Amino acid sequence: MKAAVFQGPGRITWKDVPDPGVADPGDAVVRVDVVTICGTDLHILKGDVPEVTPGRVLGHEAVGTVVETGRDVRTVRPGDRVLVSCISSCGRCRFCREGRYGQCRGGGGWVLGHLVDGTQAEYVRVPFADLSVHPLPNTVDSLDAVLLADIFPTAYEVGVLNGRVQPADTVVVVGAGPIGLAAITTARFYSPGRIIAVDLDESRLAAARKLGADATVTAAEGPEQLVQDLTDGLGADVVMEAVGVPATFELCTRMVRPGGRVANIGVHGKPAELHLEDLWIKDVTITTGLVDTTSTPMLLRMMAAGRLPAAELITHRFELGQMEEAYDVFGRAADTGAVKVALGDPQHTVVQVADPPASG
Ligand SMILES: NC(=O)c1ccc[n+]([C@@H]2O[C@H](COP(=O)([O-])OP(=O)(O)OC[C@H]3O[C@@H](n4cnc5c(N)ncnc54)[C@H](O)[C@@H]3O)[C@@H](O)[C@H]2O)c1
Ligand SMILES: [Zn+2]
Ligand SMILES: [Zn+2]
Repeated sequence: MKAAVFQGPGRITWKDVPDPGVADPGDAVVRVDVVTICGTDLHILKGDVPEVTPGRVLGHEAVGTVVETGRDVRTVRPGDRVLVSCISSCGRCRFCREGRYGQCRGGGGWVLGHLVDGTQAEYVRVPFADLSVHPLPNTVDSLDAVLLADIFPTAYEVGVLNGRVQPADTVVVVGAGPIGLAAITTARFYSPGRIIAVDLDESRLAAARKLGADATVTAAEGPEQLVQDLTDGLGADVVMEAVGVPATFELCTRMVRPGGRVANIGVHGKPAELHLEDLWIKDVTITTGLVDTTSTPMLLRMMAAGRLPAAELITHRFELGQMEEAYDVFGRAADTGAVKVALGDPQHTVVQVADPPASG
């Protein structure tokens, strides 16, 4: 088969590799129908994730069709269309039993495209298939579903749930990339009073407004002043960090109100300053997290109900074989306007849910 193989910093090649097979009784082999590229893949490509070694097939998000299962797999069979989650779960370790799949110590967690070969390929072996893939209902489009592999559960669990968004809250989302945009979309489940999006890039802020941000502000325009003005000088109830650099984390801690919550989603490579001399007296909560994907079944039900327009984030489509071009377009997002790219063809026709018959 062909796959996107990491060749060392700066180099990814779409090339022939051996077909994967069932290696463990809990495995499923999935034919990849639709796959996407994550910002984390770009971090790997830069060499920021040293555990990823040359020769590794990248990718941790896909929708595909099961072609083979190990003898212990119960929940899916060949022919099933499934979502491959970015997090695998052994289901047995202490953390899995607490629903903290991201922290799995039994061989799961974030392994696909990291410690084992991933989804940017024609086929992928998924370990612990019973808990690591989700059968898809006929009413869900593969292009929507693929965004539930990572960015939607991440934004929802690490941003919205950790930030404990409540009705009427003022919510600030710093960074309007795919994660920030998914945070804006899923924060709306809780009817916040207003959502303010902060980014450097006008086109991303336009996308934020389209998805439900009530106010947008560039970092240069002064988000702190805007938040002060809109909250009678108190600060925001919830501030989410969806960039991953020290300056934006520090900005978040300056915009939160006393008693408010700062939910860090960004992956950080450098230390940020924590101004405890200002924060100690403010009763603030700061959370961090790796996604667990325990919310994926709920997000799938929202999607099946037509309440999660995820595919709106997909700006560019490619064939699977155009992987290198897709990496290039996604990697130059500031020039290309890419938010999420999707590769492959959905091998599925969505069944439309009929409108209820008009009464009277
Ligand atoms: N915690 C998790 O489990 C998890 C999972 C996936 C991704 N992430 C992380 O979430 C973060 C966001 O992911 P993404 O895919 O949306 O990334 P992205 O790079 O596509 O988006 C980041 C956005 O931040 C904006 N930005 C950059 N510097 C800024 C600044 N100084 N002020 C305001 N905006 C600024 C950029 O213009 C961009 O729109 C990344 O750090 C990513 O690695 C975390
Ligand atoms: Zn990812
Ligand atoms: Zn586990």
